[in-house]
Amino acid sequence: MDMQDQPRLEAYEKGSIRQPVAGTVPRGYLREDKQLYTGKKDGAGAAGKPLANQPAGPGTGNANISATSAGALYPDVVDTFPFPVTEEIVRRGEGRYNIFCAMCHGPTGYGDGMIVRRGYRRPPSYHTDQLRQAPVGHYFDVMTNGWGAMPSYAAQIPVADRWAIVAYIRALQLSQNPQGSSSNNGAATAAPQAQPPAPSQTPAARPSPRAETGGRR
Ligand code: HEC
Repeated sequence: MDMQDQPRLEAYEKGSIRQPVAGTVPRGYLREDKQLYTGKKDGAGAAGKPLANQPAGPGTGNANISATSAGALYPDVVDTFPFPVTEEIVRRGEGRYNIFCAMCHGPTGYGDGMIVRRGYRRPPSYHTDQLRQAPVGHYFDVMTNGWGAMPSYAAQIPVADRWAIVAYIRALQLSQNPQGSSSNNGAATAAPQAQPPAPSQTPAARPSPRAETGGRR
């Protein structure tokens, strides 16, 4: 594709990106070009397939990745950035996000952007479990190939900026769900969690059968 020849891509070509501190290996630093340009793993299937619509299950070829539900939903996309994410990159992503995404997805990613409030189809919130757990390659893939009603942004947003936007979306997700990243650190706002009510409040209909399995009958 011609797009790969755009001059702006040179910013992230080998050797010109910011080098890590000597002697360190940044976690998840991937160098393969396919991952940079497509967000897909080497050996992944045809580009542009809507992977999330495929049933997750055995035989999807995802034996290499951890058995999270997100990994099963998006078996072909990478879950690491193709270069180390710096604060500068996140800032760049913020600017691009506000230009290209916020009018639909909302400034903090709840799917409540300005033109949605005026009647445009509402996108999903980035703060659902599914999208929080979706690998970074999924976001890159959506911007690159489009997703359902959402058009591709590959023509408007260069590769490096697409990754920067992904980095910013991750930052948004962390900011809206601080407990998701680390538990027990005293965050004041308790996120609503799917906990059954205390048994004493509902003696007639206990949600958990576990209390009953101790030897009745
Ligand atoms: C014109 C409005 C609009 C803009 C601008 C827009 N999106 Fe979307 N986006 C949507 C809609 C609508 C959907 C839901 C599409 C569907 O499910 O058919 C969506 C879905 C998504 C999804 C969810 C895919 C999934 O797994 O369900 C992601 C991620 C996403 N957009 C990222 C972005 C990013 C990043 C940008 C900026 C580069 C962006 N979008 C710009 C309207 C928009």
